[in-house]
Formats: sequence, C-alpha cells, structure tokens
Amino acid sequence: MNGNTRQEPTLVLGGTGKIGRRVAERLTARGLPVRIGARSGEPRFDWEDRSTWGPVLAGVGSAYVSHYWDVIPGAAETLGGFAELAVASGVPRLVLLSGRGEEEAERAVRAVRDSGAELTVLRSTWFAQNFSESYWREQVQSNEVALPAGATPEPFVDADDIADVAVAALTDDRHVGEVYELTGPRLLTFAEAVREISRAVGREIRYVPISNEDFAAAAAAQGVPSEVVEMLTFIFGEVLDGRNAHLADGVQRALGREPRDFSDYARDAAATGIWNPRATRAA
Ligand SMILES: NC(=O)c1ccc[n+]([C@@H]2O[C@H](COP(=O)([O-])OP(=O)(O)OC[C@H]3O[C@@H](n4cnc5c(N)ncnc54)[C@H](OP(=O)(O)O)[C@@H]3O)[C@@H](O)[C@H]2O)c1
Repeated sequence: MNGNTRQEPTLVLGGTGKIGRRVAERLTARGLPVRIGARSGEPRFDWEDRSTWGPVLAGVGSAYVSHYWDVIPGAAETLGGFAELAVASGVPRLVLLSGRGEEEAERAVRAVRDSGAELTVLRSTWFAQNFSESYWREQVQSNEVALPAGATPEPFVDADDIADVAVAALTDDRHVGEVYELTGPRLLTFAEAVREISRAVGREIRYVPISNEDFAAAAAAQGVPSEVVEMLTFIFGEVLDGRNAHLADGVQRALGREPRDFSDYARDAAATGIWNPRATRAA
C-alpha cells in the first residue's frame, strides 16, 4: 500500500498527454484525487517557468513525472531540478517516464535519482499510440506512412500498459526502486506495424521507408516547427539502430500479466474510426 493515506492528490505531469491522460483517468476511476500538471492545468505548470513548479507540488502526495521531451538538451538538468524541488517540498515519491536506450534519457534518470527521490523508472520503447494519437495518425488516414525507419524491428508498447504500470507504481510502495523496461510482446518492423493497421482498417496503407533528410524536409514542408523536426530526426537517427530490438519483461513484472499485442491495439483503434480517411473539403 501507498503511505499516502490522507488522500493527497497525485500530481500527473503531462496529464493531458498520451500517457498522463490515461494515468489521470485511472487514478480518478479509483476515486483518488489528481492534479494535472500542464500549461493548461490549474495551477498552470510549465517546464520552462520554474516559478510554476512549487505551486503544483504544494500538498500532493506523489507525482508521475513526464517531460514533454526528455531527450532535448537540458531536459536532464530540468528534470533533476524538478525532482530536487519535489523532495525538498516533501514529495519524494516519483514515478518517471523515460525513453529506452537514449543517452540523454539515461542522463535524465540519473539526475532524478540523484535527488534522493523514492523512484520508480518506466523505461519505454515506441508507443503504439503514436500511430493513432500523435505524429503518424494523419499519414495513416492518408494511406501512406513514410518514416525514416527501415528493417529494424521494434517492440512497440501500448500506452494503456504504460499507464497501468504507472498507476500500480503510484499506488503501491512495493514498486519503489524498480526500473521497468516496458515493451510489447512482439518485435515488429514499422512496415509490419503498418500492415497490422492496414488489416485492422480493411484498406491498403503503404509503408514507405525514407531517409532522415527526406523526412525532415517533408515535415518542415507540412509546417512542423523546426525544433520538433530536429528532435524527431534526432530520435529516429539515434534509436533505430537495433539497440531496442529485444523484448523486456517490465509489464509482466509490474502487473503480473502479459503486455497487449499490437494487433489488439490496431483492432481497437480502428474500431474508434480514428484512422478513417479524412473527409475532403467541399469546394
Ligand atoms: N512517443 C513515444 O513513442 C515515446 C517513447 C518513449 C518515451 N517517450 C517520452 O514520453 C514523453 C512524452 O509523453 P507523452 O507522449 O505522454 O506526452 P505527449 O502526448 O507528447 O503530451 C505532452 C504533455 O506535456 C505537456 N507539455 C508540453 N509542453 C509543456 C511545457 N512546456 N510545460 C509543461 N507541460 C508541457 C502537454 O500539455 P500542455 O500542452 O497542456 O502543456 C501534454 O500534457 C517524452 O518525454 C518522450 O521522450 C515517448
């Protein structure tokens, strides 16, 4: 059990994002109070404005910590600074979402650990939901996914599994000190993942491997902000060398069950209509 018996709220940073939103929903469904930490939250939280950090930490019992991009230069120092303030504010119980295999992400984990926090680390590979709730959804809708990812298989993990592990860690002190490597149950190349989506939606969606340069140029032409293009190309260039082409047992260890398979994700996402072709605007 968690020592947080007074039902102080749990702070969920990135609580409007892909994982944080799910963490907040799960805690709320259990009747546990939640404070969302985001620029749209109340009080407002902004990683770039340290004056907003203290107010969101006031009176909370624990925190789910997720930077909007933990591999950008300086994120490790920012995360370390936040963790120090959390510990100094009497909020030592932290659950940190991190990447898997990026040196910058590892630096961030060390910085948070150095704060002396009672820490659980979730080291996550690519989220399956990037195809439906983020970067690649519009490409699926337009029947062609073009990314700088070749034949390297990746163990895509379901955002629901990550959120389940985060909530387990936030509500049970047995997870303090654990590092959970979170992967799905199967390695898939990007082409194979897109084929699964194609099967689920019942129409052909092509996967086209492109160079990092072509990807950057196409993203810039679509109006993606330059710092985002830079970060995406950095991540694609850094982690797709096969370093993550192996499965890990983090979901099983944390939850005592197997992770969800990508085909289940694709079936359920397709059923929501999220990948329906975009309606062409009437002239
Ligand atoms: N996507 C992947 O496949 C993957 C894999 C492994 C690890 N990760 C890591 O996961 C993290 C992202 O998690 P996610 O995908 O759940 O988030 P997300 O869906 O990208 O959402 C970002 C969240 O951060 C908030 N945010 C953005 N800028 C902010 C700022 N300046 N200050 C405070 N909050 C801010 C957003 O809310 P507001 O806009 O309201 O502020 C939102 O709640 C990153 O650290 C990433 O490196 C991602």
